Amino acid sequence: MHCVKKIKEDLYWVGGNDRRLALFENMFPIPRGVSYNSYVLSDEKTVLLDTVDKSVSGQFFENVEYALNGRNLDYLIVNHMEPDHAATIGEVVLRYPDVKLVANAKTVNMIKQFFNFDVDSRTLIVKEGDTLNTGKHTLTFVFAPMVHWPEVMVTYDTTDKILFSADAFGTFGALNGNLYADEVNFETEWLPDARRYYTNIVGKYGTQVQAVLKKAATIEIEMICPLHGPIWRENIGWFLDKYQKWSTYTPEDDSVMIAYASIYGNTQNAAEVLASRLADAGVKNIAMYDVSVTDVSEVLSEAFRVNRLVFAAPTYNGGLFPKMETLLLDLKAHGLKNRKVAVMENGTWAVSAAKHMRAILETMKDIEIVEPQVTVKSALKETQTEEMDAVVKALTE
Ligand code: FEO
Repeated sequence: MHCVKKIKEDLYWVGGNDRRLALFENMFPIPRGVSYNSYVLSDEKTVLLDTVDKSVSGQFFENVEYALNGRNLDYLIVNHMEPDHAATIGEVVLRYPDVKLVANAKTVNMIKQFFNFDVDSRTLIVKEGDTLNTGKHTLTFVFAPMVHWPEVMVTYDTTDKILFSADAFGTFGALNGNLYADEVNFETEWLPDARRYYTNIVGKYGTQVQAVLKKAATIEIEMICPLHGPIWRENIGWFLDKYQKWSTYTPEDDSVMIAYASIYGNTQNAAEVLASRLADAGVKNIAMYDVSVTDVSEVLSEAFRVNRLVFAAPTYNGGLFPKMETLLLDLKAHGLKNRKVAVMENGTWAVSAAKHMRAILETMKDIEIVEPQVTVKSALKETQTEEMDAVVKALTE
């Protein structure tokens, strides 16, 4: 049966949910699933805004058919060509052979790369700021390169003041009947996944997200319809503020995150001792993760959240414990900056983990590495109490 949700008089959600997929992009664990949102605008002309991932195509086509209510499909607007939204374009063209694809020049090239149908004969190419009138509605196309691919654009319905924002303002998490962010406990139950989605998927492109936020600030927005997760119709400013922080690498919380790697528990012990002393010094809500246990996407997201970070790791093969190296390289790849960082290393002989951690951290922008750098020789000793206190002082002063 169809699972269509009516959003406005002539606007329908026609997406689908996947709670089976273990890894989004075959990389990010999604225990809460994911939604692929798609929308039908049933004006004098009918419009489909993006499609869905192959995994939910059955539900999607049933939804589209219901929303169209026997009418033909006039336009498919392709805001983003990543296959989680574009994989079913080929089948849309087969089912609705008269459909016109509305896309920009970069998108057209990508459609040709992914598909074999005749693209040119059925495409309406749009440029930044172009509009499409569908009857009551006028849709404006605003380019949003690298949020999250170079071809991305967003579509603004000037009639109902709705922003179809592509990946922007999306989140991991399947929609469990409730379609709107104001119908769920977003701040407590969804925000960590929204942050993890943003930081891992577009975290690297803060400058480009800033450019989109500046464009968004010039238009009146009553609703944001993203391609993943709930729709925003209330408290939009609160979520825009999160995007403002994330895209400027501004921490949300004044706290410390300790990420450690530990083989036999001795580096963990050093991390626990430091955490306890940080708490004694008044630091609240300290977060601590074993990088061999917690997925790197979660640790990265937490590094975006707080303002102070500690990395503690053993030496391994004359270098750095691989899981810690992966984390630090991932933080660097995502352009994390503006953080105060402490480094602790361990080793039984030829200790060199800190040297390797610093080599990565020092290539990152606006990362202040505090002293002292703690070196544990096999196990932390009482004689190192002063050293640990000095790290606490450096992180808290
Ligand atoms: Fe949800 Fe960049 O695709």
